[in-house]
Amino acid sequence: MSNTQFVDEVKRRRTFAIISHPDAGKTTITEKLLLFGNAIQLAGTVKGKKGSRMATSDWMSMEQQRGISITTSVMQFPYHDRVVNLLDTPGHEDFSEDTYRTLTAVDSVLMVIDGAKGVEDRTIKLMDVCRLRDTPIFTFINKMDREVREQIEVLDEIESVLKIQCAPITWPIGMGKNFKGVYNLYTDTIHVYTSGQGHRIPDDIQIKGLESDEAKVVLGDLLDDLIDEIELVKGASHEFDLDAYLAGKLTPVFFGTALANFGVREMLDDFVEWAPAPQPRSTNVEEVDPYSDTFSGFVFKIQANMDPKHRDRIAFMRVCAGKYTKGMKMRHVRIGKDIKISDAVTFLAGDRENVEEAISGDIIGLHNHGTIQIGDTFTVGDHCKYTGIPHFAPELFKRVRLKDPLKLKQLQKGLQQLSEEGATQLFMPLNNNDLILGAVGVLQFEVVAHRLREEYKVECIYEPVNVNTARWVECDDPKKLEEFKRKAADNLSIDGGGFLTYLAPTRVNLSLTEERWPDVRFRTTREH
Ligand code: G4P
Repeated sequence: MSNTQFVDEVKRRRTFAIISHPDAGKTTITEKLLLFGNAIQLAGTVKGKKGSRMATSDWMSMEQQRGISITTSVMQFPYHDRVVNLLDTPGHEDFSEDTYRTLTAVDSVLMVIDGAKGVEDRTIKLMDVCRLRDTPIFTFINKMDREVREQIEVLDEIESVLKIQCAPITWPIGMGKNFKGVYNLYTDTIHVYTSGQGHRIPDDIQIKGLESDEAKVVLGDLLDDLIDEIELVKGASHEFDLDAYLAGKLTPVFFGTALANFGVREMLDDFVEWAPAPQPRSTNVEEVDPYSDTFSGFVFKIQANMDPKHRDRIAFMRVCAGKYTKGMKMRHVRIGKDIKISDAVTFLAGDRENVEEAISGDIIGLHNHGTIQIGDTFTVGDHCKYTGIPHFAPELFKRVRLKDPLKLKQLQKGLQQLSEEGATQLFMPLNNNDLILGAVGVLQFEVVAHRLREEYKVECIYEPVNVNTARWVECDDPKKLEEFKRKAADNLSIDGGGFLTYLAPTRVNLSLTEERWPDVRFRTTREH
């Protein structure tokens, strides 16, 4: 590959994730996107159903017993002349810190909103994470085939709750049983809805011109109202502005129904045009240019191997610059060793294959036998360390107790190692010998108990603990910090990485403490 070819290849990449509240339609829209990418013959293969070929080892089998969907972690597919990398964000019971951290490995995000429900909790949290890097956001408002709310109202809600300007690109014509299609405000085109096409690429029936004769024939009495509504929408919303979108200040909005695969294509066509190609990334030294030909990347997720024959785990690496080629040597910066990688995997259309080449923007999977942690950097040439792949403050906490008190060492080791994989965090209070486990998603506690039993041969019991949230503590003034440590010792812990953490019993307690100690910073994230 010549240098110009390399640059062209990087420019074609679109690496993104979908954020949504459970049941808004993330899985359904993912299936349709793969269908457009010719990645699957028939939509409907994303959810791992019981007994499917994804039946797997250790804790993933537990997820399956519970009927939790296992989605493929990375999906790569071509669309137009682009290469799309879609990173899965665990969503239902499998919601975890991985969901947050995946958002640090993408260049943009697609937000899916249920048109009947509007902005929901999980979306608010995920938006907060996107804000850390001002990630550009596309919006798809789903389920127009149902009785939904007034969509102007939903846009208002997005603007006020999520604090981002909305620029509708398409607008729905009717809803529920009377859903007729979408109108593109910029191309002055009506895309006509025909139901029952969910499992294939739908015909694209277009009518040019809102005021055309054809529009009158197809929409009949609805047309006059639509013309008025479009006037109103244009007046009440923002005009699309590419720079504002790329700066994360404005979101283009599309409407449709993922289930019937309608409106998705219109969104995807603009997405591959407007969404950013791989962006520069910060390190402890300088920003790394994605078009640089010297390889580097970082690990954002570690997952149980999907192949039951191997008990190792897969470390997901975002390539940030240069090119991975099979058999190349790279430096594992944290442990300071050069390693040769010949068996990295890629995720073409959800199938794992050995990868020959991957470039900036792509995700590759490395076999991890315990030496790789979340946040690790791999480089050729200069040995920098990527930043911005943080731990996120957990929201659920439990005290861990042993059934057999003699196994304390194994328990500590197990909890420490599992925390390094990043799904849970371990906290050790300053004032007692408790072990407190924190997680973002509830399933993680069961995963840890299961893995402690299987891999470390320890049985643990969880007990409730009076902790509501955690904040990492920093203070530039050593004297103030000492005083704080003395006065607030009952609520302070050391986390698995050795960092001082404030465990707040309530939100009110946290705000009062923040007020009382203005020189102390209470951070919601901590770098690896
Ligand atoms: P999620 O991944 O965001 O959690 O949502 P998912 O795609 O699983 O969709 C949640 C439910 O909403 C599913 O129904 C799905 O069929 C439905 N759905 C998704 N998009 C649309 C749409 O555009 N219109 C309508 N009417 N429904 C939609 P379910 O019955 O809960 O699951 P399933 O049995 O279909 O898998």
